[in-house]
Amino acid sequence: MHNEQATCDHLAELLRQITTHLEEFQRFEHPDAVANIVSWKSVLSGHAPEKGIGASQVIAEMGEHVIPNGSQISKPGCTSYITTAATDIGSIATLAGIVASPQRIGVTAFNHLEGLALKWLAEMFGLPKGMQGVFSSGGSTANLIGLGAARQWAFKKIGIDAAADGVQRACRIYATEQSHHTVHRAVAVLGMGRRAMVHIAVDDDMRMSPEALRKQLQADEQLDTLPVAIVANAGSTNTGSIDPLQEIGEIAHEYNIWFHVDGAYGLPGTLDPNVNDLYRGLTLANSITVDAHKWLGAPVGIGATFVRDYNALHDTFTQGDADYIESTVVEEERVENSMDAMGFPYHDLGVELSAPTRGAIVWALIREIGVDGMRARICRHNEMARRVAEQAKQHPNLELALEPTLSICCFSYVHEKASDLNGLNKKIHRQLMKNGVNIPSTTMVGDKFVIRPCFLGARTDWHHADDLVNEVIDIGNKIMSKGI
Ligand SMILES: Cc1ncc(COP(=O)(O)O)c(C=O)c1O
Repeated sequence: MHNEQATCDHLAELLRQITTHLEEFQRFEHPDAVANIVSWKSVLSGHAPEKGIGASQVIAEMGEHVIPNGSQISKPGCTSYITTAATDIGSIATLAGIVASPQRIGVTAFNHLEGLALKWLAEMFGLPKGMQGVFSSGGSTANLIGLGAARQWAFKKIGIDAAADGVQRACRIYATEQSHHTVHRAVAVLGMGRRAMVHIAVDDDMRMSPEALRKQLQADEQLDTLPVAIVANAGSTNTGSIDPLQEIGEIAHEYNIWFHVDGAYGLPGTLDPNVNDLYRGLTLANSITVDAHKWLGAPVGIGATFVRDYNALHDTFTQGDADYIESTVVEEERVENSMDAMGFPYHDLGVELSAPTRGAIVWALIREIGVDGMRARICRHNEMARRVAEQAKQHPNLELALEPTLSICCFSYVHEKASDLNGLNKKIHRQLMKNGVNIPSTTMVGDKFVIRPCFLGARTDWHHADDLVNEVIDIGNKIMSKGI
């Protein structure tokens, strides 16, 4: 019976079945996946089965062995990475897209919403007028796309079409060591090589030093290298620092170098009036990235790149003509059917042809709570980081490593009798992971190992900030009282 015949017309019923398991998961009462690793790994193994078991049975197996052993990232107390679980409407819009528009192409409401959602993002974050965007799978790809445009532009200035003829000269890309390493990878993928990355010094707040940048650019004028881009952070992954965008942008313009701003995490910070001023220099950017799957609550798989002019992307990423595409496309005015044309050709502006519809998800997220709701979330999370910072400053056993800019706060436990504070904080973090309720990550600020919560999940609320601080103090005290 299940031979070849995959169920294709019982979606509602199957959704009802899976919903029970998902609801249970979202109570977050399951033990961590590692607690039962032997059991679920033994069930989820073996060779490809000759015979299928049918959709309902697959759902039952998912419910028993897969979903309960999912990720801690979904938990409201998880402040570890810069992604989180999708909000309900994010999950539902994703499913709607999968069902009703498996591709972003075609003259459909989904293709239209790609454009509308990009326009809403640009308006919401106050991007320079006229900036045009494209969705991709996340910050890694979004940076790759922005830097691809930068590469094309830089080589065009010396009469080379890099997309056609390749990278014909040694390049330099200026960033700080705080920039996300997906930037380095993007530079490598674009053929410029990781060694093209030049790290500019940061100040005590982990922000790029404009003086150091200027000095480096002056020194590099003697070299036979091609300056391709200056990459600034609008919310670094480590500490949430925002580089001095205005000063850096002015230097980029003075030297006629492409100015790329990585706002994968931090661009939504523009909505917080307390920090909005730090984004002033965005007006000078040639390309800007943001991830909907970080602070906006989208499911993982949605980033966006904005540029001044789509041609910059088209020149780099166009697929070129292909018979299998062109044969079905008719002139726009003669479109009689949604399949007569591709809709807006996003596939010529990035690295994917087949791609899911992402705009409908971002549209739904904003439509649900409005810009006002997004602003309230961003402000709340930034305020939570500041609250942790205040507690760290006031408590005798805590130390603030860096004043927070956005929703990341770096702090550590301290004790007069502790001889190895970094080791002690590592132990505290290990215990937090074991307890599995408040789950921050860690980083280094200078030579200090610090606890690093990043508040950005829609489910992560005020008390999670307090709970984390209290648990850190509690674990630290216990370790110290045992004389470790
Ligand atoms: C500032 C920044 N840029 C880029 C990335 C990479 O994004 P993704 O993981 O979506 O590829 C991240 C990820 O955390 C980030 O924080």
